[in-house]
Amino acid sequence: MKILAIESSCDETAAAIIEDGRKILSNVVDSQVETHAKYGGVVPEVASRGHMQAIVRVTEQALKDANLKGEELDAIAATCAPGLIGALLVGANFAKSMAYALKKPFIPVHHIRGHIAANYLAFEDLKPPFLTLVASGGHSMMVLVKDYTDFEILGGTRDDAAGEAFDKVARVLEVGYPGGPKIDKMAQGGDASKYKLPHSKVKDAPLDFSFSGLKTAVINLAHNAEQKGEQIDKPALAAAFCNAVVDTLVPRLELAQKQTGVKNIVCAGGVAANSWLRKALEEMAKKNKLNLYLPPLSLCGDNAAMIASQAYYEFKAGNIGNTLQNAFATAEIYENICVKK
Ligand code: KG4
Ligand code: ZN
Repeated sequence: MKILAIESSCDETAAAIIEDGRKILSNVVDSQVETHAKYGGVVPEVASRGHMQAIVRVTEQALKDANLKGEELDAIAATCAPGLIGALLVGANFAKSMAYALKKPFIPVHHIRGHIAANYLAFEDLKPPFLTLVASGGHSMMVLVKDYTDFEILGGTRDDAAGEAFDKVARVLEVGYPGGPKIDKMAQGGDASKYKLPHSKVKDAPLDFSFSGLKTAVINLAHNAEQKGEQIDKPALAAAFCNAVVDTLVPRLELAQKQTGVKNIVCAGGVAANSWLRKALEEMAKKNKLNLYLPPLSLCGDNAAMIASQAYYEFKAGNIGNTLQNAFATAEIYENICVKK
């Protein structure tokens, strides 16, 4: 079954065609990052307009790369939640119209389910159940994937997502947007022990965490230094920050693993590209004799291949949208976003 998917939830306009949920026939990603870098972050209205301009070109390219015509597709999918609503509406409505014109089923996909499915493209043996650490720009949580369309949140952030914390700290350290990859790189030569940063604990919720205190600590440290006319050792602070994020996420994942006994561990989302996190996960998996699945860097960030992969499993579960399908700025991963009425 060949599915074309569209992804437009944030600042990437993407289209991809995947066969039977696992095989990439084409995967086109058009990033608006340079446009938004001027503003230090994503401007939603600008993102929607960017998707409008790119979507036809990107879709045509995906068809061309797969050497397919629209009529040869079996279904059309799109990210319908969560994300920037104006941005989502462009991709979802384009895909829905394409499905309508071609008389093909339309499959709405949850963006975070898609991030998890990126791993199905990289690892053909991977099947639920497994435990996932989701770390993206908008989400940070541990999810038990009981089946392809059955998810349980075990714990997560009470405030900022990991990627959001990276982006905010990057602004303070004046490294530019998007912050995550830049901080990761800057931290490489840094002395992580030079600065002491706080580690969060949520009372009576050992699997939950918070990033806002950590972010505020970095901001205060930078401002205090500025007021005293002192130079911040940016690589050291970036390294201490990466360490603190890793020390927040990995022990909780380890605890969730012990509680569930699930041996297959997966990482998903943009922050899964972080080299400090990847290394710490590898060590944790080795120590506990777990099977670790880390998506290749090319599939960590937003793309439509992961959406098409998840769409295959949504289709098999009967989650097919109709012409009333809407997009939603927020939706939990366990919710069925498919409009049935
Ligand atoms: O999953 P994603 O592409 O979009 C969302 O669904 O949010 O994640 C984007 C986030 C951004 O906050 C970006 O700074 C972060 O992932 N990110 C990283 C790295 N690469 C991307 N954070 C830390 N280290 C990286 N290497
Ligand atoms: Zn994403």
